[in-house]
Amino acid sequence: MPPWRVTAPGAPGVAFVPMVHAEAHARVNLMGEHTDYNAGLVLPTLLPHRTSVELTPRDDDRARIASEGFGGGEFVVGEERAVHGWLDYAEACTATLRADGHEVRGFDARVSSDVPVGAGVSSSAALLLALLRALREAFALAIDDVSLALTAQRAEVEFVGARVGIMDQMVASVGREGAALFLDTADLRRELIPLGPSIGLALVDSGVRHAHAGGSYNERRAECEMAAKALGVPTLREVDDLTRVDALEPALAKRVRHVVAENERVLEAVNALRADDAGSLGALFDASHASQRDDFDVSTPEIDALREALREVDGIRGARLTGGGFGGAVVAVCDPVVRRRDLEPARRAYERRSGREATVLLPVR
Ligand code: GLA
Repeated sequence: MPPWRVTAPGAPGVAFVPMVHAEAHARVNLMGEHTDYNAGLVLPTLLPHRTSVELTPRDDDRARIASEGFGGGEFVVGEERAVHGWLDYAEACTATLRADGHEVRGFDARVSSDVPVGAGVSSSAALLLALLRALREAFALAIDDVSLALTAQRAEVEFVGARVGIMDQMVASVGREGAALFLDTADLRRELIPLGPSIGLALVDSGVRHAHAGGSYNERRAECEMAAKALGVPTLREVDDLTRVDALEPALAKRVRHVVAENERVLEAVNALRADDAGSLGALFDASHASQRDDFDVSTPEIDALREALREVDGIRGARLTGGGFGGAVVAVCDPVVRRRDLEPARRAYERRSGREATVLLPVR
């Protein structure tokens, strides 16, 4: 990371008076992993963890951002460039808004967050949406919530260089805590499905970090595109005849099987949620994990160990890797009586086995 040029907005000793305040929540995906960039189905929900932005517009084009967690930074609006630090996300916002013809000038901002980075809960979408919401308000931009999500996705894909799908930005923009967002990424049709009284969630960060701007995630996406091309379909959403998949090279055939089955599991998970049936949802979680591990090849030995430890806990009905993979977190469906302290033995067993530090993100108490 480059050395940051400022550490706080405003001259030293001068109070920063924010004009707007905006925030966006992190998410956990309940089903539909690596389906969004294949025009498929997803089922994320919002976490209580969030990123907040306080912002005041300036009369010039300087953008100065302070953040306790990330450090500070500064750039010139209109001269944005990616330097591979967290500031890229802010530069990506103004660059993308301006490319769309929105009038954005400089600003002073302060960012704070309790969202863990690299834990598979989309700290990036929370940061982008919080910043974009603040900029929308500060500069009175005419842009609706769905367009804001699409802007965030383009910012991440085109500027930051992570070829992510639309799930995280959409749920950060139009999702709700206590409900899952059933989203068809092919046409952005969506429905909020309430999480019923029988559905509890546990979420544990493995302490194994991932970064999507690099290698493996983009590689999986490229494999899916190769497979679609070989099968003669625009996207893997269109694959309905799995017998043709056998003709593909084995690794590509496995990727396709995961995507097709995972889309089906989203539909089944929606039915389980509507029926408030934790047992059925748990079985789908287990099946999704096996598919991510064996067919999509995005799990790691640590993630598998954490999942197995959690699966031993009384009241846990099923558990799966969530998010982009290659590290991150495990989400479990559990009986609502399960508390943080009930996860302690599993957390400690995992830490002993892996030598990593795990953090319980849910339940909150
Ligand atoms: C990351 C991406 C999403 C999605 C998931 C995997 O979180 O940002 O778009 O592809 O990985 O389901």
